[in-house]
Amino acid sequence: MTNEYAIECEELRRVFRSRRLTGQVEEVVALDSLSLQVRPGEVYGVLGPNGAGKTTAIRIFSTLLIPTAGSAHVMGHDVVGSAGEVRRRIGLILGGERGMYERLTGRQNLEYFASLYLMNPRRGRERAQAVLEQVGLAHAGDRRVEQYSRGMRQRLHVARGLLPDPDVIFMDEPTIGLDPEAAQDFRRLVPELRERGKTVLLTTHYMLEADLLCERIAVIDHGSLVALDTPDGLKQRFGAGQVTEATLRHASPDLIERLRAVRGVTAVESEMEGAAQRVKVHSDVGRDVATSLRNLAGADTLQSLVTREPTLEEAYLSLIRESGTG
Ligand SMILES: Nc1ncnc2c1ncn2[C@@H]1O[C@H](COP(=O)(O)OP(=O)(O)OP(=O)(O)O)[C@@H](O)[C@H]1O
Ligand SMILES: [Mg+2]
Repeated sequence: MTNEYAIECEELRRVFRSRRLTGQVEEVVALDSLSLQVRPGEVYGVLGPNGAGKTTAIRIFSTLLIPTAGSAHVMGHDVVGSAGEVRRRIGLILGGERGMYERLTGRQNLEYFASLYLMNPRRGRERAQAVLEQVGLAHAGDRRVEQYSRGMRQRLHVARGLLPDPDVIFMDEPTIGLDPEAAQDFRRLVPELRERGKTVLLTTHYMLEADLLCERIAVIDHGSLVALDTPDGLKQRFGAGQVTEATLRHASPDLIERLRAVRGVTAVESEMEGAAQRVKVHSDVGRDVATSLRNLAGADTLQSLVTREPTLEEAYLSLIRESGTG
């Protein structure tokens, strides 16, 4: 295989076999003929519902799991045949907070993990200091992890992933459970990694995060690729045109039906918010739904009215529903 891609897999398949209490053997196809190509220096998102196979793919790329069939390469090295070469070039960052030694300081944890990477003590100390600075934890490096907040713990996880100065970084739901501020902090780190030439493969269930960070996004479902595009491309292809949102001071009984009859309107949703009614209209691009809404509801009833592009979340949801499983 070539070195053209930082990460790639071809027709990757992984089947899990587990024995039930009844003795019956059950097979789960976690990945089914998945092919992906990630360019060097790219931030690449992998989205998909629970159980889609995202973590399984990351475990295969990071040599923790062997595929049932197909192949995977990282920086040109086969993840099965050259697992050692792959491991030397990757960092793995998982969400959640486990896996650190609570009674040790952040710095001591990092120096310990550096020794597992077979760095000599001096190099370990240097790298620990470097990554503490990189993730903004230098001020707290000498405090015990038990005193760290969630956000600080996650930064320490990131620091651990960066210790070997990897070319390729896998992040599996890195911001899960973080408060908005800590998550935002983390999201600032990703473009910095990119600027330093790192390749990042990231899974997340936060669509705004994917939209903000990723150059391209693969959507997978039931272990197979269902779409691959830029965030804007996904919005255009699957976001169902444009969205017009309005808030009405009071409910207008047959408004929904009449809106549905407007030419170019593809879907109408509505919900009450106290006495006010919120209406969301999907329509073909370029349709002047705003005018129809104004006419149908009456201008004095309208509290707010805005036409916008669909969000990545809206595109994702319609794509997953379309793929028949959501
Ligand atoms: N060790 C295992 N033994 C049996 N089945 C497994 C194992 N690991 C994963 N699976 C199954 O493989 C499928 C894919 O799981 P995976 O964890 O890759 O999904 P995911 O996309 O990461 O989901 P989530 O968004 O919930 O993290 C699921 O059906 C899961 O139950
Ligand atoms: Mg997962």
